[in-house]
Amino acid sequence: MIQFSYESDRELFENAILYAEKQVKRLIENHPDFYPMYTNSGKWKHAGPAWTHWCDGFLPGMMWLFLRHRGPDKQDARFWMEQAIRYSRPLESRKTDNDVHDLGFIFFSTYHRWYQMTRDPQIREVVLNAGKTLAERFNEVGQYLSSLVAEDSVYIDTMMNVGLIFYAARECNDKRLRDIAVRHCMTMRRFLVRADGSVAHEGIFDSETGEFLRTSTQQGYRGDSCWSRGLAWALYGFTTSYEYSRDPRFLHTAEACTDYYITHTPVDGIPPWDYNAPPENRSIVDTSAAAIAAAGMLRLCRSISDPMKGHFYWSTAIHILRNLCTSYLAAGDSEWEGVLKSGVYHLPKGLGVDESVMWGEYFFVEALEDALRTMHNHNQNHHFPRPETHVTVH
Ligand code: GLY
Repeated sequence: MIQFSYESDRELFENAILYAEKQVKRLIENHPDFYPMYTNSGKWKHAGPAWTHWCDGFLPGMMWLFLRHRGPDKQDARFWMEQAIRYSRPLESRKTDNDVHDLGFIFFSTYHRWYQMTRDPQIREVVLNAGKTLAERFNEVGQYLSSLVAEDSVYIDTMMNVGLIFYAARECNDKRLRDIAVRHCMTMRRFLVRADGSVAHEGIFDSETGEFLRTSTQQGYRGDSCWSRGLAWALYGFTTSYEYSRDPRFLHTAEACTDYYITHTPVDGIPPWDYNAPPENRSIVDTSAAAIAAAGMLRLCRSISDPMKGHFYWSTAIHILRNLCTSYLAAGDSEWEGVLKSGVYHLPKGLGVDESVMWGEYFFVEALEDALRTMHNHNQNHHFPRPETHVTVH
């Protein structure tokens, strides 16, 4: 019989969340109302370019997670509630920003968490508005949500954002929105996910005829390589697309991407920045990809009907988190302002390489909070924490 003992992991993960809280407090004290993206030599404030503004939600998103982790009645809960609102509120105007494909990153981490906490219909309205705005990027002939760089381009990252359209479709009972979301996922699955479960970062289409032309990349090594963060976005994004749609094709894709991650990543669970990186930079890892993958696997295991496979994904996620906590936490370096070291933003442009990155911090905290909550429920229920299948998460 398999025995599960979570005591040492629980302590490790609790301490990591405490450390993340400490670092976020330090950031907001030192640089109030600043939304950083990546560190430079461990410092959040620097003159390095952002490239695009897609991650302003992750700092307040961590605050919502701290609040959820502590529970509304605990010490510091009022502080995190106030800060989370203070940092989320200025993002509201982005709900009508149809120049980007990233609104899911911004609104799932903030207004959606806010709504889950308060059930305030005005807050929900902001999320729905953002979902409808994102749907405006749908290219009818190519059947995809175009990327911010051009009408003929689509990124795998959109798999983390299309959930906002599924959400708006469900809440507004809008079949047109649901069709847009499903058709986008089908296009991504067909052209950006390969038969072995690896993914391309970008697809280029003829935006007039809709014909698919080739794969490409912005942040990966090559159009035919597998950028590890893109893979992590895909495994998580197809999981949530399955949660919304119950379309088994999306679940199969999520599993294929996860299986690629597991079979191609070194034994500590932390991937190289690109699985096909050339020898000169192959040793550069991306801890943010690992954090996203762990967070995605913790969700995916809830949708898997085979208990052994579900358990395998759960324990792989725990293994990744354990190694992030023991080998990549910045805790031993008092000068470092981030939480997780060794993230990568944009290696080809030389931005944020071997640094802390805000989305890595967010998905790390999300995964820790999810794992701890599941362990707690396991203790209460006295059975293995394979969560129910077919739960509606959003
Ligand atoms: N462009 C989103 C990312 O860096 O993953």
